[in-house]
Amino acid sequence: MSESGSRALGVGLLGVGVVGSAVAEALLSGRSQANVPGSHPLELRVAVVRDLTKERPVPAGLLSDDASSVLSNPAIDIVVELMGGEEPARTSIAAALSAGKHVVTANKEALAKHGGELIALAEQNGVRLLYEASVGGGIPIIGPLSSDLLANEVKSIRAIINGTTNYILTRMSNEGDTFDDVLADAQALGYAEADPTADVDGYDAMYKIAILARLAFRAPVELDSIYREGIRSIDPVDISNAARMGFTIKLLAVARDDGRGLLVRVHPALVPNEVPMAKVDGVLNVCEIEGDLVGPLWLQGRGAGAEATASAVMGDLIRIARAPGSQTRPRGLSATTERLAMDDHVCQYYTRLVVQDQPGVLAGVAGVLGNRRISIDSVIQMDSDSGRGVADIVLMTHPAREQEMQAAITELTALESVVEVASLLRVEDYPDPS
Ligand SMILES: NC(=O)c1ccc[n+]([C@@H]2O[C@H](COP(=O)([O-])OP(=O)(O)OC[C@H]3O[C@@H](n4cnc5c(N)ncnc54)[C@H](OP(=O)(O)O)[C@@H]3O)[C@@H](O)[C@H]2O)c1
Repeated sequence: MSESGSRALGVGLLGVGVVGSAVAEALLSGRSQANVPGSHPLELRVAVVRDLTKERPVPAGLLSDDASSVLSNPAIDIVVELMGGEEPARTSIAAALSAGKHVVTANKEALAKHGGELIALAEQNGVRLLYEASVGGGIPIIGPLSSDLLANEVKSIRAIINGTTNYILTRMSNEGDTFDDVLADAQALGYAEADPTADVDGYDAMYKIAILARLAFRAPVELDSIYREGIRSIDPVDISNAARMGFTIKLLAVARDDGRGLLVRVHPALVPNEVPMAKVDGVLNVCEIEGDLVGPLWLQGRGAGAEATASAVMGDLIRIARAPGSQTRPRGLSATTERLAMDDHVCQYYTRLVVQDQPGVLAGVAGVLGNRRISIDSVIQMDSDSGRGVADIVLMTHPAREQEMQAAITELTALESVVEVASLLRVEDYPDPS
């Protein structure tokens, strides 16, 4: 019993890695009791890992390599899942909820893929499933979307929610280096995983925007309905061209209902230099939410890292410790939200074509675009490579429909005078700040 007489709640950790170690330290330091007097004390009772020989900030007597020592242990009231990945995390979360234990997790993949079923399981069992740390590390995003903003109809969420890709793009912008060089450096510095696929191909951002979109738009968001494109093909030439035209390239995750329907997309985009998002650099994350009552909101901070992420995990734990009897009441899902396909997306496009350096080429290109009613906003003919007899043409279009633009790109590729469509990037539309 605590001084206030509240029964201590037993916490079982699944995973004592980067985040789990910081959470264990926060629990063992008694930080939650000190900060929230009167709530139920939180007591770390078991911590599960794979390798018992590694050094951990947890007394040896609390360590186990057997997940059932948490999942089947009546002394554990709250399971904190910090193993990551789809399995065995999903099965462990489901087992904990079914056994009547609250669950706190930072696992975006398990939630993006199985959130619907896990949230329903929590409700059926009268327990809570909290996952603030799954998106944006230490930035409170899930909490505001699940409670403070409930009165709003959310119009859009636009975010930079993958620190690794933002770090890589920032360094490519600042230093003019290639993607491969910066990636190798980021791996050496520990900012990128040995297998960078989840980050650089946009899967991590896709999982996170799926979680946010589900909450914000009260719609189940299947991963295969999300348009996803990563940053591997970004060339330093495009970054410097974009800069000359007044833009910065960022990997954006966007969920927006423009009145025609909800479109969820992850892709690199040209962001106008005058909007704040263009200046969110390095490993920082940002999430811009627009609600009909609250207007635009801006949440920026550390999207990863042991302490920042532990802050979100501890916040969820303290929420349970304050009121363990209260239940997750998910915002009801609306089956009526119309969905939009990426083909229906409308934006300006930046494209770089490598063409034969000869007269009449631009007219041919303009003809293809014109036939599809795509008009050109500006053209930059870059330096020609006289040795190879080719030149770069960089075009910015007026707003066009994705389907038309993709069809035009296929036709341009077939032109004899076009050697290669080297890049096609979307320009993100922001309201005119003036
Ligand atoms: N790192 C961040 O900055 C960050 C930020 C936001 C969210 N997250 C999320 O937080 C979660 C944890 O990430 P992390 O970076 O802390 O991962 P990590 O450093 O790789 O730690 C994973 C931990 O889980 C244990 N583990 C993995 N599989 C297991 C299994 N089958 N049985 C028992 N234990 C197992 C590992 O044990 P061993 O140590 O014995 O191998 C390790 O202690 C992930 O969902 C991640 O997406 C991380």
